[in-house]
Amino acid sequence: MPNALTIRGFAVSVQETPILKGVNLTVEPGKIHALMGPNGSGKSTLSYALLGHPAYTVTGGSVTWQGKDLLGLSPDQRAQAGLFLAFQYPQEIPGVSLAHFLRAALNNVRAARQEKELSVIEFRRLLKAKMELLQMREEFAERYLNDGFSGGEKKRAEMLQMALLEPSIAILDETDSGLDIDALRTVSEGINTIKKLNPTMGVLLITHYQRILNYVKADEVHVMVAGKIVESGGPELVGKLESEGYAWLTEAEPAPDGGAQKDTAAKAAAPAKKKTAAPAGRGQKTAA
Ligand SMILES: Nc1ncnc2c1ncn2[C@@H]1O[C@H](COP(=O)(O)OP(=O)(O)OP(=O)(O)O)[C@@H](O)[C@H]1O
Ligand SMILES: [Mg+2]
Repeated sequence: MPNALTIRGFAVSVQETPILKGVNLTVEPGKIHALMGPNGSGKSTLSYALLGHPAYTVTGGSVTWQGKDLLGLSPDQRAQAGLFLAFQYPQEIPGVSLAHFLRAALNNVRAARQEKELSVIEFRRLLKAKMELLQMREEFAERYLNDGFSGGEKKRAEMLQMALLEPSIAILDETDSGLDIDALRTVSEGINTIKKLNPTMGVLLITHYQRILNYVKADEVHVMVAGKIVESGGPELVGKLESEGYAWLTEAEPAPDGGAQKDTAAKAAAPAKKKTAAPAGRGQKTAA
């Protein structure tokens, strides 16, 4: 599909350590793809690399989107082209209000779309409408960006940014982590509302838990292990992961680099070689 986000053999290193080892994944317009996998398997690396973060070096493969070579674009150009990433760990910027930040972000994207810059008043009107849509209090936008925001508030601020920017592809990295049950429902409803208004938006939803997928319906579910997608399936895959964990996927020998990733059955049949747990790293978390 020419308009899809098409990731082929994508290999990425961080500080000369290969992290992604040939990722194949296609996210079609209007589809929600969930990405799961153990800690340290490379899910956030994939999102940062897609956004063009300078710490992530692409060593192989291709990423095309809407027929364009995404990897040839600067991070700014990727955002302008409609790629949106909600970070697993949103940054704090004391001294810049959320509203100010959002207006700058929106006008940057609008300029690239040849749309006129929104004045403060026009922006305020739009912001108010979007905040109502997401059931957010207006004062919230006056606070400094993420400064002292609770975990749930950070995630909601990102939903607000997504609602304003109207991306054509959204990568949501653990948007559900750290949310209480009510906040999870609010954020999920936010995603569904934004999606309904923007039905061609493709979503890559990175998560560890089934619970967000009870609210946000995934069309396809993928599992990343050690820098590769090792299993893909429908929503029923989530239930299996929830009850059986990742052991049945991590015990099999990974395919050679750049190899086909859909050969899970063959791998499962191969002699099980006990691997150590996913590499320890920065991303280690306790279960929520
Ligand atoms: N900037 C970095 N510097 C050093 N190592 C990094 C960096 N970014 C990623 N890594 C390493 O790459 C591996 C993959 O990390 P990544 O954050 O992509 O995993 P993840 O699948 O998102 O994990 P989690 O489920 O815990 O969020 C880890 O071993 C991590 O330590
Ligand atoms: Mg991560």
